Amino acid sequence: MSSTGKHSSKLANQRVLILGGSSGLGFGVAEAAFELGAHLVLCSSNQSKLDAAVARIKEAYPTQAEKQSIIACAADLSDVANLDATLEALLQKATNNGANKLNHIVSSAGDGVVLSPLEKINAQLIYKVMNVRLVAPATMANGVRGRQPLRDWSVITTTCAAIEGLSRGLALDLAPIRVNAVAPGVVDTELFDSLADERDAAMQALANDTLVETLGRPEDLAESYVYLMKDRFVTGSVIESNGGVLLK
Ligand SMILES: NC(=O)c1ccc[n+]([C@@H]2O[C@H](COP(=O)([O-])OP(=O)(O)OC[C@H]3O[C@@H](n4cnc5c(N)ncnc54)[C@H](OP(=O)(O)O)[C@@H]3O)[C@@H](O)[C@H]2O)c1
Repeated sequence: MSSTGKHSSKLANQRVLILGGSSGLGFGVAEAAFELGAHLVLCSSNQSKLDAAVARIKEAYPTQAEKQSIIACAADLSDVANLDATLEALLQKATNNGANKLNHIVSSAGDGVVLSPLEKINAQLIYKVMNVRLVAPATMANGVRGRQPLRDWSVITTTCAAIEGLSRGLALDLAPIRVNAVAPGVVDTELFDSLADERDAAMQALANDTLVETLGRPEDLAESYVYLMKDRFVTGSVIESNGGVLLK
């Protein structure tokens, strides 16, 4: 629950826009920020997923839902041709046409993991992987694959490394507005649901690759995002939360 304490009240009445807030990492951040007293604007491409996410948060925090707002804004960040207009409309809605200041923007929007052997990589595939994660302005989600590539992960590795560069560049360009990135290891989210019957075995194998012998949960990674929102002295930084996978 939000409180009046010096540390626990840092997000009280702050307004947080979360791109990709309907599931996975973004939903975890949404829950954490709401619990700490923030107003939320959740964005994803699917209105019914957004509505379900809003309902889950209101059900989990009924008392706070009476005082704090949650707005759901559907926007397709993969539609690069219309991205400027899409983001402009999103920001207008998120700020009530400029009347409400946004304190933080979190981006964890991503449209599925596309792996490809080197010989099959083409421009279309590169753009598909990068559009939602990187091209959409303020895309700040990231991953350990930027530093620890696997076979067939070249395009994703490029995207992860580019996000780190983007956050450092934006931290300089937008100062004193702060810009940071989070580099997660493997986090058990809806991202992996497409693995269907192979999901459990794949997740166990990934957990075995970590030092802590488990995968991250959205509520674990939410701490990294909340920390970056609360520490007004951190900018141009990358927070790693990966179960020690880089040391194995
Ligand atoms: N989970 C991990 O282990 C992990 C590790 C490192 C990095 N990452 C990266 O972090 C990001 C989030 O991962 P996650 O696990 O949270 O995935 P997720 O559960 O699948 O969430 C992805 C979010 O992005 C939204 N989204 C997808 N396509 C979109 C579009 N065209 N426009 C706007 N929003 C869109 C989704 O909502 P809709 O479907 O409603 O659009 C959803 O809210 C991804 O880029 C992923 O590659 C994940």
